[in-house]
Amino acid sequence: MNIGQEGNKGRIKMAEIIDGKAFAAKIRAEVRDDADKLISQKQVKPCLAVVLVGENPASKVYVGQKSKMAAECNIKTKDFKLDASTDQETLLKLIDELNIDSSVHGILVQLPLPEQIDERKVIDTIVVEKDVDGFHAINAGRLSIGGAMLKKAFIPCTPLGSLLLLKDKVEDLKGKNAVVIGRSNIVGKPMSQLLIEESCTVTVVHSKTKEIEHVCAQADIIVAAIGRAEMIDANWLKEGAVVIDVGINRIPITKEDGSEGSKIVGDVDFESASTKASMITPVPGGVGPMTIACLLRNTVTSAYRHADLDDPRSI
Ligand code: GUN
Repeated sequence: MNIGQEGNKGRIKMAEIIDGKAFAAKIRAEVRDDADKLISQKQVKPCLAVVLVGENPASKVYVGQKSKMAAECNIKTKDFKLDASTDQETLLKLIDELNIDSSVHGILVQLPLPEQIDERKVIDTIVVEKDVDGFHAINAGRLSIGGAMLKKAFIPCTPLGSLLLLKDKVEDLKGKNAVVIGRSNIVGKPMSQLLIEESCTVTVVHSKTKEIEHVCAQADIIVAAIGRAEMIDANWLKEGAVVIDVGINRIPITKEDGSEGSKIVGDVDFESASTKASMITPVPGGVGPMTIACLLRNTVTSAYRHADLDDPRSI
């Protein structure tokens, strides 16, 4: 039996672990069903183009996982692996070709890109209707406006996956205090907009926020996306908070045999936070699998839109 820590005396209940791996498998099964329906009704197979520039080891792993899981969902992938020295013009030319290729429904350019390439220029060159990452300025604008505009938008995959987990676990998000830790374009900003759309009261905190722990301790829901290993512990949390940990940080460890190794941890100190949260996502096995599932979901949505059909699923 685990007893809570200081300031949390008498608490014997540990947080429920939110199983992102299982939930992502359910989403992928739905995606496969939707893909199969499109194939049988319209003879169209959803197709995702995946562009990787350079040799970033983490990016290579992500891209490999995306292609493997796409195949399991009956989504075709076209992989483009470009040299790290590729210039911007070459990459933009490839995107232009994929933009006009009617067999391609989604274009994903894995980030980060080498420094000679302007990331924003690349993202905004992808036609908005194939921007399944939801990073294009127009998709970001649609999400920001919300309401009916969301029907035309693509929602960035990590925030979408985080929201689907929350909606599965929290009966009514309306009026809940949500704190998003981190203000990135990929996670923090779109996450805050999605939570506003769900009628949460949303605060975004970041590295310059004063009394950040105090602000977080007011939250019914915490989404941690700051990129600092195990920064958030029980002291940052209100009793019973729901914690979504978006962080993926590799930290060095010493193995049992004394040799040096590494492991992946989140932005949340899982052991400590579990003593105070009511629910928490683990790392790995929480948000990570949801990101890929939502990318595949967005790709099938795009294929439906290209076939003039309604979206197969709503948020
Ligand atoms: N790099 C890290 N996360 C992402 C993502 O969601 N999409 C792309 N394209 N690159 C990433």
